[in-house]
Amino acid sequence: MRTPFIAGNWKMNLTLKESVALVEELKDLVSGVTGVEIAVCPPAVNLTRVQEVLKDTSIKVGAQNMHWEDSGAFTGELSPVMLRDIDVDYIIIGHSERRQYFNETDQIVNRKVQAAHTHGLKPIICVGESLDEREEGKTRQVVKAQVKSALAGLTKDQVADSVIAYEPIWAIGTGKSATAEEANDVIKFIRETVNQDFDGAGDAMRIQYGGSVKPHNIEDFIKQSDIDGALVGGASLKAESFAEIVKKSV
Ligand code: G3P
Repeated sequence: MRTPFIAGNWKMNLTLKESVALVEELKDLVSGVTGVEIAVCPPAVNLTRVQEVLKDTSIKVGAQNMHWEDSGAFTGELSPVMLRDIDVDYIIIGHSERRQYFNETDQIVNRKVQAAHTHGLKPIICVGESLDEREEGKTRQVVKAQVKSALAGLTKDQVADSVIAYEPIWAIGTGKSATAEEANDVIKFIRETVNQDFDGAGDAMRIQYGGSVKPHNIEDFIKQSDIDGALVGGASLKAESFAEIVKKSV
């Protein structure tokens, strides 16, 4: 039995004041909710304050990006050691926006995934095809290559302890979501791929859907056989809509 996992990716949004206000409201709205794991991923500069507000709750905190090295001359970067030191639990790796705007390659994604596990951070690994790739019928091929590369070199236990977020790029921030059945098909295929490569670890791994998840469509996704939750962008920026998504995922 996999526990559903709803994570909010705030991207480059919310000031410190807004971040604190959001989590103050969220913790009240979801207090007493069980059967679903919840995480918020604020901008790095707001992580410590958000962490403080949430310290006595079960809501986890994640970062949106990090370097793979422990420390060194990498101006502007954050290391896994620093994130673990402030009790961050999750790290989003390989989001399509980072692949697209910051040249993150499959190889870089793999290094970061390995570094995350080395330091006790759980990676949320994002994969997904572009609209062109989908229209050319290449969805499975693209997603399979991304998954295999991201997980290369991990142990079976590390794989089981990783999260994959399947986010078709054309569904991100567009208001167009994949149908729940389409998303489930791809997610099932990802699970089979992981099962084959890592001796059944895919059955234990949580695989989320991401791309225009809102309170009105979360139930369609969550009731599918293989979708274990969602990585939520826009709708995670308001405590009320995010809490509604959480409650509908139980
Ligand atoms: O990582 C979440 C994301 O890319 C989806 O964003 O705004 O379409 O929910 P959104």
